This record gives sequence, C-alpha cells and structure tokens, in this order.
Amino acid sequence: MTEPAAGGCCRCCCSFIFTLGLTSLFMWLSLRTNDPKCSVQKFYLPALNKTLNTAKNNTLIFMVRLDNSNKDKGVYYDDVNLTFYDSPNKSQPHLIGNYTIPRFYQGHQKKAKKDGHTAVNMTLVSRVVAPNGTAEFWVDLATAVRFKILWWKTKKHSLIRSGSVLVDETGAKGKKGIKLRSGAPERGNYCALVGVLVSLLVLLT
Ligand SMILES: *[C@@H]1O[C@H](CO)[C@@H](O)[C@H](O)[C@H]1NC(C)=O
Ligand SMILES: *[C@@H]1O[C@H](CO)[C@@H](O)[C@H](O)[C@H]1NC(C)=O
Ligand SMILES: *[C@@H]1O[C@H](CO)[C@@H](O)[C@H](O)[C@H]1NC(C)=O
Ligand SMILES: *[C@@H]1O[C@H](CO)[C@@H](O)[C@H](O)[C@H]1NC(C)=O
Ligand SMILES: *[C@@H]1O[C@H](CO)[C@@H](O)[C@H](O)[C@H]1NC(C)=O
Ligand SMILES: *[C@@H]1O[C@H](CO)[C@@H](O)[C@H](O)[C@H]1NC(C)=O
Ligand SMILES: *[C@@H]1O[C@H](CO)[C@@H](O)[C@H](O)[C@H]1NC(C)=O
Repeated sequence: MTEPAAGGCCRCCCSFIFTLGLTSLFMWLSLRTNDPKCSVQKFYLPALNKTLNTAKNNTLIFMVRLDNSNKDKGVYYDDVNLTFYDSPNKSQPHLIGNYTIPRFYQGHQKKAKKDGHTAVNMTLVSRVVAPNGTAEFWVDLATAVRFKILWWKTKKHSLIRSGSVLVDETGAKGKKGIKLRSGAPERGNYCALVGVLVSLLVLLT
C-alpha cells in the first residue's frame, strides 16, 4: 500500500540530490580562480653591454608582466617583491638587488606591464659573467593576491613565482618573455574539483 509513496519519495530525493550536485558543480565552475601569469619581458644590464663602455653602471632595467586571465574576476595584488640573484644555483644564491612594485588592482582579462630599475651589486654580477659575455640570473617574485568576484573578495593567498634569465653579450635577455613558474605543482583547483566529484558520488550512491 505504501510502496508507490515510498517510490515517489525516493525519486524526489534523488532529483534533489542531483540538483544539489549540479548546483555545487556550477558554483565550483563560477567561483574557481586562475592565478595571474607572471613573466619577465625585459631584463637589461647596461654594464654587460659589450658595445658600451659602462662597466661601472650598476643599473638593472626590467619589465615584468602580470596577466589576469580570469573572465570575470579582478585581482588585488599586494606589494609585489622582486628579488634578483646572481645564479640559478639555489644552493648558493647571492642577492644582487631587489625591487617592490606597489600594490595595485587589476580588472578581468587585463595585462599589467610594470617597468622598473634598481641598483645591483656589480661585484657579484661581474663574477658570474662567462668569458663569452653571457650570464645567468635568477628572479623571484613574491606577493599575495585576492580575487574580486562580483561584490565580494576572496581570502588572500600567496603567489610565489621564479625563473632563470639568461643575458647575452649585449647585457639583455632575448626577445621572448620568460615565464615565471611556481616551484610547487599547482593543485588548488583540482583539489576542489575532486572534492565536489567525490561528494557527488557519495550523494548519488
Ligand atoms: C646606466 O645606464 C642607463 C641606461 O643606459 C642610464 O639610464 C643610467 O643613467 C646609467 N646610470 C649611471 C649611473 O651611469
Ligand atoms: C651549486 O653550487 C654548489 C656550491 O658552490 C656547487 O657545489 C654545485 O656544483 C653547484 N651546482 C650547479 C648545478 O652548478
Ligand atoms: C631590499 O632588501 C633590503 C634588505 O633585505 C630591504 O631593506 C629593502 O627594503 C628592500 N628593498 C625593496 C625595494 O624591496
Ligand atoms: C656586494 O657583494 C659582496 C659579496 O657578497 C659584498 O661583500 C659587498 O659588500 C656587496 N656590495 C654592496 C654595495 O652591497
Ligand atoms: C657562453 O658560455 C656559457 C658558459 O660557458 C655557455 O653555457 C653558453 O652556451 C655560451 N654561449 C654562447 C652563445 O656561446
Ligand atoms: C615583501 O617585502 C616586504 C618588505 O620586505 C615584506 O614585509 C612582505 O612580507 C613581502 N611580501 C611577500 C609576499 O613576501
Ligand atoms: C648596447 O649598446 C649599443 C651601443 O650603444 C646599443 O645600440 C644597443 O641598443 C645596446 N643594447 C641593448 C640591448 O640595449
């Protein structure tokens, strides 16, 4: 006698769970964020330009680019700390210079080009120049970001990127931008997706 009612309840329960699952999947899709992409676009040490005679010039001229690829989320950057080292060999790095890009806000799908120059330790720099005039350096970028999604802001999380920069005998790196990478594998988003899928499975069985 009660069977049809029970079947109806089960069906109703199933569709409720299904809707819940779809809703969480949809929410995950609209709330997930991509970290900004960071690259070094310019890196020039006039002192290492063989056609100039300015070996004492201790200026480093650089440009980094920060790209927000999110379709509809803005990014609040904390102060962006750039640190320059004399070698990609992390077992014995020497700091040659640093620079801070002041905090700023970036709208969705915007690219920010940040120019700067800083004084570097020429004693250390000249030590790593190979006989053929090339030299390799290491750049660390450290900041914290929070995303703006509609009217609210996400929690701050740190953004650490780095990469090695090779300069030739003109004291400049090649034309191509150098992507700065995260040392750790990027996993935040995948964890969230796996979480949602696991809870969906648990709910459906
Ligand atoms: C070093 O070189 C740059 C670029 O050529 C120049 O703008 C700067 O004034 C020079 N600095 C010194 C201390 O000579
Ligand atoms: C890094 O530096 C250490 C200490 O100077 C040295 O023993 C090691 O061979 C270097 N590694 C590379 C890859 O150059
Ligand atoms: C560079 O590093 C020095 C020593 O750690 C620090 O005192 C200085 O504030 C830094 N400068 C910038 C521009 O970050
Ligand atoms: C440059 O680095 C050397 C070696 O670490 C250090 O002895 C020297 O004091 C530094 N010079 C400046 C101006 O910081
Ligand atoms: C210059 O010398 C460095 C180190 O000896 C080497 O790795 C590099 O391939 C050389 N580059 C050219 C263009 O010869
Ligand atoms: C950047 O440098 C400043 C001053 O040295 C420091 O207070 C801040 O924590 C640094 N930010 C990051 C993300 O490392
Ligand atoms: C190196 O110096 C030469 C001579 O002044 C100049 O033409 C050239 O643009 C410089 N190289 C770079 C990468 O700026």
